[in-house]
Amino acid sequence: MTATRTSTSAGTEGAPHVASAAPAPTSGGAPQVVSGGAVRLRGVSKAYGRGPAVLDTVDLDVAPGSFVCLLGASGCGKSTLLSLVAGLERPTVGTVEVPSSGAALMFQESALFPWLTAAGNLDLALKLRGVPRRERPAEVERLLDLVRLTGAGGKRVHELSGGMRQRVALARALGQQRSVLLMDEPFAALDAITRDVLHSELERIWRETGTTVVFVTHNVREAVRLGERVLLMSSRPGRIVREWAVDASGSRRIEDAAVAALSIEITDHLREEIRRHAR
Ligand SMILES: Nc1ncnc2c1ncn2[C@@H]1O[C@H](COP(=O)(O)OP(=O)(O)OP(=O)(O)O)[C@@H](O)[C@H]1O
Ligand SMILES: [Mg+2]
Repeated sequence: MTATRTSTSAGTEGAPHVASAAPAPTSGGAPQVVSGGAVRLRGVSKAYGRGPAVLDTVDLDVAPGSFVCLLGASGCGKSTLLSLVAGLERPTVGTVEVPSSGAALMFQESALFPWLTAAGNLDLALKLRGVPRRERPAEVERLLDLVRLTGAGGKRVHELSGGMRQRVALARALGQQRSVLLMDEPFAALDAITRDVLHSELERIWRETGTTVVFVTHNVREAVRLGERVLLMSSRPGRIVREWAVDASGSRRIEDAAVAALSIEITDHLREEIRRHAR
């Protein structure tokens, strides 16, 4: 089942920084629910208030269970696109379809509650999702195991490293049980080694859970390391102008020659987009 969000519908919000894109209220007689598990944008344009178009006539299909990375100059509308899929923003024109279970959103900053432990943060998110109290401890343990934080649930946020915080944030997003995970530069603030480890973890979790991932990054190598598809957006207004398919069948490392070669090609195109944007 898929919920269709149109310019006449409203989004909903779940726990802080864990956006819910549950089916939007119907209005205007437009069909709000159709079948299929894909994320689908059709003719989506977005302007904030009376401002210029940030996104212009974006068409995008993300197949269920696929991993898509989104690249583009700063300000080209990547976060806006994620906000539309998450239901936090409405398109000015066009339609956005998401699976009926909706999408969870994860940001660069983990935005955990500092006065709670890692487990406490997860428990709260589950509580907000309506999971009964008796079921929550086991689910918290399962989520901690999933992100390889077994035994760390009792640590307070200030006792966690940056990488561990992002693991908790990832666990919290996964705990929303949405079939789509939207990630907005989630590893940008981490050192290279920690990021490397989290790439492997994310890839494992993606394969284990079959979650659909839309991942925004400024790091071309990261996009090629993680994605099955890498999309490049233009700026002012934002459009998807180019796409690369990545062979994700084998194991990939960020320092692989194949990853480097494709990254160079994509970087050239990204530079050109940034140059055009700067003119
Ligand atoms: N809530 C908002 N109200 C008004 N303008 C906004 C809002 N959110 C974003 N914008 C504008 O929309 C444009 C696209 O912003 P967006 O955050 O989507 O870009 P981005 O590609 O994610 O950039 P970055 O790579 O720097 O994160 C920018 O010009 C920004 O100023
Ligand atoms: Mg952004």
